[in-house]
Amino acid sequence: MLYAHITGWGMAVPETVLTNADLEKMVETSDEWIRERTGIVERRIAREGEYPADLATSAALQALQMANLSPADLELVICATSSPEHLFPATACLVQDRIGAVKAGAFDLSAACSGFIYAVQMAAQSIRTGALKNALVIGTENLSRFVNWNDRNTCILFGDGAGAFVLQASERPGGVLSAVLRSDGSGANLLSVPAGGSRFPASNETVHSGQHFIHMDGREVFRFATRVMAQSTREALQVAGLKVEDIHLIIPHQANYRIIEAAARGLKLPLEKFMVNVNRYGNTSTASIPIAVCEAVQDGRLNPGDKIVLVGFGAGLTWGALAAEWTGPLPAERRVNVRSFVWLARLRSLYRRLIRFIEGLLWGRREV
Ligand code: UT7
Repeated sequence: MLYAHITGWGMAVPETVLTNADLEKMVETSDEWIRERTGIVERRIAREGEYPADLATSAALQALQMANLSPADLELVICATSSPEHLFPATACLVQDRIGAVKAGAFDLSAACSGFIYAVQMAAQSIRTGALKNALVIGTENLSRFVNWNDRNTCILFGDGAGAFVLQASERPGGVLSAVLRSDGSGANLLSVPAGGSRFPASNETVHSGQHFIHMDGREVFRFATRVMAQSTREALQVAGLKVEDIHLIIPHQANYRIIEAAARGLKLPLEKFMVNVNRYGNTSTASIPIAVCEAVQDGRLNPGDKIVLVGFGAGLTWGALAAEWTGPLPAERRVNVRSFVWLARLRSLYRRLIRFIEGLLWGRREV
């Protein structure tokens, strides 16, 4: 029997910090209000020219180095994102090219802030069936580019960043133990970027009426979130045959400190059982859970053999929880230097573009 283990992890956040004090100068708000209502103190914002695939590539390379796995051995790259670089191609394909995952299929997964949990479960399922051995799952966001910086209801919440996991097959029991994935499209209007898709394509009208920004009914999303966090955690534990007391650490989606407090109350667990870093990054959507996992490992709060739950919610509406036994890198015979593959990947990408260009000239098409 095959198990899907989390064997590598990595994160990347932009250098630029936007504090509550900075926001006080932009909209009518206060540091006190933001801290009290959300727990957020600062968030990271991508600089000009820094995009989701950049952050994703950086997080992915760290995760591969941690797993001691060559990008060429990956068979699948899933990028969960709510702020992809384009409608298509998938941001996952841009990452696949940059890291040189030459044998991997790549696609984006759209399930908003629950996306990382959905993506880990999709990769784990594929591994457990024996369809593939090595997968890369990324959550990456530049939500700051969809934020209306004049809307105090939303601009205080979101930040940019990326996190990544490597998942690998092993016959050793452990890894991803269970997952519950849910959705309720009747709440689709509660959190959305209304325009830019095929229903409301970009036009002067959509731009002027702000339909390309994030629109949110904060109170309704809050009520929904506090209801589903504890409930889905219990469901995932039940499927895994675990009890709440068996859990070492819960890594929730970092949207609002009060939502995490409500989940703790619902599960009758102390807050110490929850990883919290929303104060430093705000809500980074699909990236929030893997970033929190990376910091939990760094802080020594997550060790091999620990039972954990990842739990999140988001637009859609979507929500989900995933129970896992933490593994860490699998034993390897040789040390892989992942960075050296990046140079090869760049050369390979240039070479393929050049060949396409020459073919275009030969056959009368100028394609680069
Ligand atoms: O990944 C999922 C993403 N979304 C979420 O997780 C959002 C979930 N919702 C929330 O986190 C909270 O609902 C918010 C943080 C967005 C808002 O907190 P709240 O305690 O639900 O506040 P509220 O919307 O009920 O607003 C209370 C008051 C209002 O004033 P009035 O109508 O009572 O006079 C707002 O206009 O606070 C006002 N307000 C603000 N005041 C200062 C709203 N935003 C701000 C602000 N600064 N930034």
